[in-house]
Amino acid sequence: KRVLSVASEAVPLVKTGGLADVVGALPAALAGQGWHMRVMMPAYRGVLDRVGATDVVWAAENFFGGSARLCLGSVGGMEVLALDAPHLYDRAGGPYSGAQGDYWDNAERFAALSWAAAIVARDGIEGWKPEVVHAHDWQAGLAPAFLRYWNTGVPTVMTIHNMAFQGRFGPQKAGPMRLPPEWFHREGYEFWGDVSTLKAGLMAADAITTVSPRYAEELMRGEFGLGLEGVIQARAGVVSGILNGVDGQVWDPETDPEVHPYSAAKPQGKAKNRKALLAEFGLNAEVSGPLLVMVTRMTPQKGIDLLPQAVESFVAAGGALAVLGSGDSWAEAAMRDLALRYPGRVAVRIGYDEGLSHRMFAGGDAVLVPSRFEPCGLTQLYGLRYGCVPVVSAVGGLADTVVGASPATQALGAETGVVFSPVDGLGLTQALRRLVALHADAPRWKAMVRRGMRMDWGWERSAVAYAALYEGLIA
Ligand code: ADP
Ligand code: GLC
Repeated sequence: KRVLSVASEAVPLVKTGGLADVVGALPAALAGQGWHMRVMMPAYRGVLDRVGATDVVWAAENFFGGSARLCLGSVGGMEVLALDAPHLYDRAGGPYSGAQGDYWDNAERFAALSWAAAIVARDGIEGWKPEVVHAHDWQAGLAPAFLRYWNTGVPTVMTIHNMAFQGRFGPQKAGPMRLPPEWFHREGYEFWGDVSTLKAGLMAADAITTVSPRYAEELMRGEFGLGLEGVIQARAGVVSGILNGVDGQVWDPETDPEVHPYSAAKPQGKAKNRKALLAEFGLNAEVSGPLLVMVTRMTPQKGIDLLPQAVESFVAAGGALAVLGSGDSWAEAAMRDLALRYPGRVAVRIGYDEGLSHRMFAGGDAVLVPSRFEPCGLTQLYGLRYGCVPVVSAVGGLADTVVGASPATQALGAETGVVFSPVDGLGLTQALRRLVALHADAPRWKAMVRRGMRMDWGWERSAVAYAALYEGLIA
């Protein structure tokens, strides 16, 4: 059985966030369930070389303003259909923006990706015709939509990784995006007089998923649905939440080349990692409280702005903080400020560094994820795996994966972290206070660390759920 996955990023080729981790992990996970998945994505600069794509399986002149080819290649066992359209994708910057900010033609760029995916699904190419199309986020939202507008009958799944990005463009873009005018209405792609590619996908898909059960429920409320809650409510019968997994080949403290090896059974190595991390960040070697780490995009979603209020009492209680991330310039500046204010106790690295992120989960005592909303979240899962206790807000996938310490969960022997709400400065301050107290209670702390490390966050469970969903659609 065949399934075409459509997305704008995939590990190991292009990554700006967790979307790429998930898209990159699904093919191997689904192969285990008898599904042959190909990933269609844009051939950004350098991609064709990395996938060794010489096999041209489809070509078109006059494709959204230039010529295009679809090249089949592979990387690390993942089969990739790379959409090579230099006028759209061969650029110096990132996948969505360059030095001048967001590309002016993102509407066309991702309409083109979705269009090509829909062609492949409708016609099949060189004998490969998917039974199901699986679209991820707004960039692929028009794939299910075109398939519906063309009456193809190909079943589709639309996955929401982040409802905040809705692919919203002015109505004058509908023509260049090749959207049929007769679908410019509430049941189609129209959204408050604009075009929304995410809405188009949500209206057209046969099934809608998001990356945690809790976020699936949250999306029905305006606070999280951000204007699309009505769509989710109307389609509630086909909405489900399937948690993301963790790639155990990449994230395992016993085999991770970045770290001094350790495991739940042999946790001794973790102390070496902690010492090394304190040194790498230039933090005081004698920090006795918890070493808290954070690896994150720096945006309002991630609750970065709550830190300044909460850090003072945390540092006074003996804690230290190491942050790695990049994003909005106000947030980067606020973090730099914090590091200046608490030398030796707070340190910040602005940038993107995969290797350092591994060393941080290995060396940290706790990982902080104070998000305002979090569809799934991956760093709390890496934290659990690496014995780096998660401190998370009670939203979305964070609430679904961390069992907050409380008298009840302690009595049950179930606690794996600290879960707090409401998501504000006082909430975070209190959470860090609880963290310090738990960390000081050595037997309780050790038990929590061990419990988290022994949990199974592999992809198999999620793959079984996706496979069952696909089977239901083709039955
Ligand atoms: P989101 O996709 O919303 O950013 P996730 O927690 O799902 O949040 O995924 C973020 C992914 O990006 C994780 O794999 C995390 O380790 C990684 N990441 C984020 N920022 C950085 C950074 N500055 N350096 C290295 N990895 C990062
Ligand atoms: C999004 C979400 C994040 C999720 C990731 C992968 O970027 O913000 O919570 O883990 O997608 O599904």
